[in-house]
Amino acid sequence: MIIAGNWKMNLNRQAAVSLAQTLDAWCAGNQGKAGQKEMIIFPPAIHINAVHDALSQETAVILGGQDCHPDDAGAHTGDISASMLVDAGCRWVLVGHSERRQNHGESSSLIAAKVSQALKNSLSPMVCVGENLTEREEGHAFDVIEKQLQESLPLKDMGDGKFAGAIAYEPVWAIGTGRVASPEDINDMHVHIRAVLSAMFAGGADTPILYGGSVKPDNAAAILDGKDVGGVLVGGASLSAKDFLAIAES
Ligand code: PGA
Repeated sequence: MIIAGNWKMNLNRQAAVSLAQTLDAWCAGNQGKAGQKEMIIFPPAIHINAVHDALSQETAVILGGQDCHPDDAGAHTGDISASMLVDAGCRWVLVGHSERRQNHGESSSLIAAKVSQALKNSLSPMVCVGENLTEREEGHAFDVIEKQLQESLPLKDMGDGKFAGAIAYEPVWAIGTGRVASPEDINDMHVHIRAVLSAMFAGGADTPILYGGSVKPDNAAAILDGKDVGGVLVGGASLSAKDFLAIAES
């Protein structure tokens, strides 16, 4: 079970460090519970070093980057490479978040190139997919997600059919809106994603599938109960230690 927090473009350095320390202390005091759950946090890139230094050596809190470039190095002003994230202590990277797809015009083929680069660097990609409201209302959600999965996962670079990453299903209309998909809708979509992944590659049967979109302490337990729900990717509620830990306790 993965409990992941996407801090997006929030928190100054001191607040980021303090939040990380609170999560770290909770994990240290909940070894048994933390053993069944992986806690991953995605701080803004500029805080990764400070957060890394604030976490205890043997911490159960795992660090991730919010994005990486498809190239390993070069003239890419403002970008960060997968190898830099690894060097800074990250083990995960978010790829294809809908805010990147929408606000930065990222296509699924670009996302696939980023996933390849992450895998080359032994960085686990958390690949986000999600339909928008029109697509859902017009009944195309399943087709949209299938297409995004097929185009965002670089099968040729996944070698032996294993995938050292995860999928995050995040319906765009549920992100930051307080509008959460119903447990039935989440269930149906996760079963669909599992079928698509299993048909695509051998490891598709075991790839964790997370749900994201307005996950809060009061709806987390019902969501996590769903079939094929391997965890949650939390945005807004991950900025509060109290809320994020309540979700982890669910
Ligand atoms: P939210 O964001 O929990 O604030 O809806 C989720 C996400 O974008 O990962």
